[in-house]
Amino acid sequence: MNKMNKSNIVLIGFMGSGKSTIGKALAQRLNYSFIDSDVLIEDRIKMPISDYFKHYGEEKFRILEEEIISQIALTSEAVIATGGGVVKNPNNISNLKNNGTIFYLKGSPEHIFENVKYDTTRPLLNTGNKLETIKSLLKERSPLYESASDMIIDIDHKSIEEIVVSILDCM
Ligand code: S3P
Repeated sequence: MNKMNKSNIVLIGFMGSGKSTIGKALAQRLNYSFIDSDVLIEDRIKMPISDYFKHYGEEKFRILEEEIISQIALTSEAVIATGGGVVKNPNNISNLKNNGTIFYLKGSPEHIFENVKYDTTRPLLNTGNKLETIKSLLKERSPLYESASDMIIDIDHKSIEEIVVSILDCM
């Protein structure tokens, strides 16, 4: 430490890439606080995100997500786990970059599928064939993840500990 001069560590990546699990482990290691934007959103809306999508739709969710991200971005010495769609809005990325280094946890569709195959809490993956949905959404979002990130961490075939060490090695 410390090649990086920005204080937050921001994790981006597709649903099921392990942002929350890795973020918690990383925060503990660095003695940073841990912030999960989806948890803050759920605290605000007082319902699971999947219910919010059902009642109010994705567009309303994205507005709320922008508001929460703009507040979180003001913190320092935090590991921030974001929702997989955070990169759809360039305002989120510029806010997070102000005081954060952005790590893209990059996984293959097959790796991600293994992590989410029994999950029912992610509204965008609950329709049709899950692996095919992951492949097409990932194809659409990969360029956004890549261009938003300062560092790319490959996560396939790696344990949580190995991913945490890969991130720490970049610091
Ligand atoms: C979303 C990812 C989810 C959550 C919402 C939308 C997305 O977060 O924010 O369901 O568009 O990729 P996770 O990446 O933590 O699953």
